[in-house]
Amino acid sequence: MQISSPWKSDFPSLNNNDFCYLDSAATCQSPTPVIEAIRDYLINGQGNAGRGMHGLSEGATDAIESCRIRVAKFIGANSSQIIFTKGATESINYVASNLREQIGPRDSILITEMEHHSNLLPWQRLCRQTGARLNVVPLGSNGELDLTNLELLLNDQCALFAFSHGSNVLGCQPPTETLIKAAKAAKVKTLLDGAQYISHNPLNVNQLDCDYYAFSGHKLYASSGSGVLYCKDIESLEPFLLGGGVVNRASLTNYLLKDDLYRFEAGSANQVALIGLSAAIDYIQTIGLAAIMEHEKNLALQLKQTVESYHSFKVVSHVNSHNLVSFHSEKIHSHDIASILAEHNVAVRAGHHCAQPCLNAVGLKHCVRASVGLYNDSHDIERFSKGLAEIERNFS
Ligand code: ALA
Repeated sequence: MQISSPWKSDFPSLNNNDFCYLDSAATCQSPTPVIEAIRDYLINGQGNAGRGMHGLSEGATDAIESCRIRVAKFIGANSSQIIFTKGATESINYVASNLREQIGPRDSILITEMEHHSNLLPWQRLCRQTGARLNVVPLGSNGELDLTNLELLLNDQCALFAFSHGSNVLGCQPPTETLIKAAKAAKVKTLLDGAQYISHNPLNVNQLDCDYYAFSGHKLYASSGSGVLYCKDIESLEPFLLGGGVVNRASLTNYLLKDDLYRFEAGSANQVALIGLSAAIDYIQTIGLAAIMEHEKNLALQLKQTVESYHSFKVVSHVNSHNLVSFHSEKIHSHDIASILAEHNVAVRAGHHCAQPCLNAVGLKHCVRASVGLYNDSHDIERFSKGLAEIERNFS
């Protein structure tokens, strides 16, 4: 089946350059409406949001608040529950830093074995700092979480269950509703790392009933520099950073925090990135996530069949992965595979994917990952296939 993308022409970077981009799980290309929104903002003059009485500053404030409303609607939240960060990693660190004063040696944090380092290292450090224990839901040999001991791990000492809503290596999603239900039954709060989920699936955090949700704008066709932390009970949160914009009053010895959302967003906002994020959300909503999901699912299947057609490569990603295919070769290092593909202007990611425990669990140290976005088509997969064919010829 020939798959074409009706949206590819919206992406200048792909139309102006002769490359085949199969690395959207790392970062997405941006469509013209995102680029135009950022360009218009910069051409018309930028101001510092919340820091001036003049039109440029007020315009920047309006742009940020309109982004907050868009993000909230997009994920089924209230805008008063949305905090802007610079990315999913900062959002997760935000929550980890909050727990530092709240937990001790009798407590635990629960994660899974398929986490990206951004949802692993902050919890390791938190546990080192507080003496709390870090428990892990293991990955089974089938690439799925082994939930045998879940109820034991979700005990009354567990302060938080933090897990990925989609694996950046395996491409699978955990049984999210089951995990949240089990956590709620044990009165354990949940944090979802949605970095690999947000651009591929509809999301309603209110229905999911998680406590925190983290994602990055650049994985949603915006530029880098914007991130979101959804927090169900915002009043329970303490500011992560302190600085400009967060107080009503400050003296040399004390400060009084604002009682609105701005107390959570110290320092000048990344207005350019947030203006891009607004445009990206509008763009995705115009297309509709159902159409995107269908397109990506078909592409991911073609990608998988392509990899499987070469005897040198073995697919590592989960059978249900709808947006990426990870694979490895016993004879050829993943970095060599990616480098040769790069010589063919085919962009993939290779290595440990910042998820070393996840790779260890499937018996590997590295693999290659090809991931799709709404702009990919069968032509991209043919170019990828030509690259794989050359690698197989040269190394066998
Ligand atoms: N987290 C991104 C990835 O998986 C960078 O490639």
